[in-house]
Amino acid sequence: MFVSIASYKGGVAKTTTAVHLATYLQTLAPTLLIDGDQNRSATRWAKRGSMPFVIADEKEAAYQARNFTHVVIDTAARPDSDDFEALAKGCDLLVIPTTPAVLDTDVLILTLSAINRIAPNKYRVLLTKVPPPPETEGKELREELQRQGIPVFVAEIPRLKAFERGVTDGVPVSTVHHKIAKRAWEAYEQVGKQITTRHREINKLTSKVGKKETARIARK
Ligand SMILES: Nc1ncnc2c1ncn2[C@@H]1O[C@H](COP(=O)(O)OP(=O)(O)OP(=O)(O)O)[C@@H](O)[C@H]1O
Ligand SMILES: [Mg+2]
Repeated sequence: MFVSIASYKGGVAKTTTAVHLATYLQTLAPTLLIDGDQNRSATRWAKRGSMPFVIADEKEAAYQARNFTHVVIDTAARPDSDDFEALAKGCDLLVIPTTPAVLDTDVLILTLSAINRIAPNKYRVLLTKVPPPPETEGKELREELQRQGIPVFVAEIPRLKAFERGVTDGVPVSTVHHKIAKRAWEAYEQVGKQITTRHREINKLTSKVGKKETARIARK
């Protein structure tokens, strides 16, 4: 399975999401993370410690990918709509991390609606850095996205200090020994499970009813 991580905005946890989804997928089968961002954040993160999966930059990616069951691609910030189209074509699922920030919700909805037209059944928004209750921005953004027909993962990633700790230690939060780190990891595990379940269902459907009908069902 090919999963790409992209977003309309920087600092929304793309690299964090790529690293943790690759960590999850590696528990199932050999996984490659392609560091497609010139900043090489994922590569630098891994160099400080160790990651359970293999990392390659985009130059070696094509050659390496054939050796892996799963490939996760971290991308640079701010792709335009052509980039989004190319990204969506080149993967099974485009994950779009999005933080609840009240100020730019309108721009966000416009951008995501545009992707809806380009790749209606290929992408899903992941709410990241969601502040704890009593703050309500996460819930409000989810409801607004759903009202606009934009697909959102049921699982979401809470705002937790444990993620910074993983970066400092050069590891995913699954190997940080702290109670809060366990919560942080479980959140990404839930997302990983939703991705693999969706992929299995789509594969099963495609073999039964053909591509057109599958695309219609995947949009739901
Ligand atoms: N759920 C979270 N809770 C708290 N901090 C987080 C969370 N997810 C990510 N962060 C922190 O937010 C910062 C930005 O995350 P990250 O580098 O993954 O974003 P990005 O979208 O890849 O950024 P860029 O656009 O620069 O590539 C990092 O310091 C990271 O540790
Ligand atoms: Mg990044």
